[in-house]
Amino acid sequence: MSSSKFTRTLVTSALPYANGHIHLGHIAGAYLPADIYTRYKRQRGEAVLYVGGSDEYGVPITLSALKEGISPQDVIDRYHTANKAAFETLGISYDIYGRTSWDLHADTTQKFFTKLYDDGDIHQEDMELWYSEASDRFLPDRYVTGTCPKCEKEGANADECEKCGAQYSPHDLVSPKAAIPGDDSSPILKKSRHWFLDLPKFQANLKTWLDTHPEWRANVKGIAYSWVDDLRSRCITRDTDWGVPIPLDTPEAAGKKIYVWFDAPIGYVTNTRQWGIDVKGDDTAWESWWKEEDTRLLHFIGKDNVPFHAVIFPAMLQGQGDFIAADTVVGNEYLNVVNRKTGKAEKASKSKGNMITVQWALEHFAPDVLRYYLCANAPESKDADFDWDEFMLRYNGELCDVVGNFAHRSLTMTVKNFDGQVPEPINLDEEDKAMLAAIPAGLDAIAESLEDFRFRQALERFIDLGRKANVYFDSRAPWVTRKTDMERTGTTLYVCCQVVHALCHAMAPFMPDGANKLAGILNVTLAQGGPDGGEDGWNVGKELLPAGATLNKPQVLFPKIDKDELARLAELHKEEEGQ
Ligand code: MF3
Ligand code: ZN
Repeated sequence: MSSSKFTRTLVTSALPYANGHIHLGHIAGAYLPADIYTRYKRQRGEAVLYVGGSDEYGVPITLSALKEGISPQDVIDRYHTANKAAFETLGISYDIYGRTSWDLHADTTQKFFTKLYDDGDIHQEDMELWYSEASDRFLPDRYVTGTCPKCEKEGANADECEKCGAQYSPHDLVSPKAAIPGDDSSPILKKSRHWFLDLPKFQANLKTWLDTHPEWRANVKGIAYSWVDDLRSRCITRDTDWGVPIPLDTPEAAGKKIYVWFDAPIGYVTNTRQWGIDVKGDDTAWESWWKEEDTRLLHFIGKDNVPFHAVIFPAMLQGQGDFIAADTVVGNEYLNVVNRKTGKAEKASKSKGNMITVQWALEHFAPDVLRYYLCANAPESKDADFDWDEFMLRYNGELCDVVGNFAHRSLTMTVKNFDGQVPEPINLDEEDKAMLAAIPAGLDAIAESLEDFRFRQALERFIDLGRKANVYFDSRAPWVTRKTDMERTGTTLYVCCQVVHALCHAMAPFMPDGANKLAGILNVTLAQGGPDGGEDGWNVGKELLPAGATLNKPQVLFPKIDKDELARLAELHKEEEGQ
């Protein structure tokens, strides 16, 4: 459970590069868990702010622009707009979805840099870097490729090999070549001045901080400790014109930019700042979220981002002197995709054509359908597989058959037989009482899982409550008793309505559309909450819908996926996105 020293929670999820469409793996790994958590906290009436946005600098973006013959600005505008819209449609409820290309972000980033520089936490070095005479430019990061000095793989990056994992100095790259459209010349080494963040200075404090968090997931802790134990200074500038300018008045800094991995996490701060300006009209409103000890800072990320969120960014924050440290870094593993032909799971990749973009998925499936499966099958402690058939079976068999069906038969029978009103309970017996008692127990169990960031388990517990309710319904058989005993039938349906009401509240963080529909039928309001907090609307799910309360016409909450239609869509995906 969260400790009570906190009065507000700041939730961040990794800023996706505005260099491609986000896909379902991203959603399962970072955005959906963060959203479920935030929605849950809002419902509890706790002050919570959820910030996200696009990561818009970096070499891959300038390379995309070159390949397409458009400007980097065109690239980021396209993907920022598309991804922002996809998040909105999926119900990822950011309080702000910002951009690192904002001027405000350059300001925040430069302040971070300047503070570290003034305190002596950044030093400069002259480096020998690859330079293309043909293009008259340095070749940062992926602008150069060559052969790995260790495993001899061709097409390796300048300083690391994706195949064997080797890290090396750019000098050791064998047969380097420029990797710019129209330029594959052999580069020369040329001197360039760069700036380095002195991470070893922060080592002791980082270790102490990690030691205070034994509760973190093992996957995150493992990566964090292995980095902290072997900390080196990192270059935080690049020879590129696409990025935040280096705030130093020396000729060597001119024309160079801050490295994207330095500025990107600062985007969380910038976006909080912009939120404060937009919503509070106050450019100091962000500070309580980043500087006060009663703020709980949470990062939701995929595991490839762990070093940045559990080591490097924390060091940058520490170096500012007055920022808080993250309380938890929730890192997820990967969502692989099952190949329908071979039945084997493969890493999702653009080149395999097996990546399902959120945009594509939303053209064919309702947000709740996707949210259900991606949470039920989230890669929390190990990789998970996206499997088309399992996707349909779990959604149909669990959300539709268990929860949707229970709500539907309870509500239609009540409306039909009791004039659209919750009936009067008469002589509740042991079985009724046991069912009623399962409501607060169920909600508490779900809440406990959510507090522990066990989203799969939380959803299982939600479905379990539905399962219990179906057992109760079948045992009481109101469709039989209806013919002989209206009093008994009324009592049964009274109990059922209470469970439906609880399910409605418990559903809201996971499947907000279904919850809103159901709330409309039950004539109840779901708590909204927000950055200023509010009433506890979660426990309202434990309260009773009084006898006599009016119900609206029931409607199907979760329509089933048809088997043939699913097969058609899986094929269509292969044709449209596949190779
Ligand atoms: N753009 C990076 C990625 O997609 C994540 C950046 S997270 C941030 O892997 F914290 F740096 F913003
Ligand atoms: Zn290699």
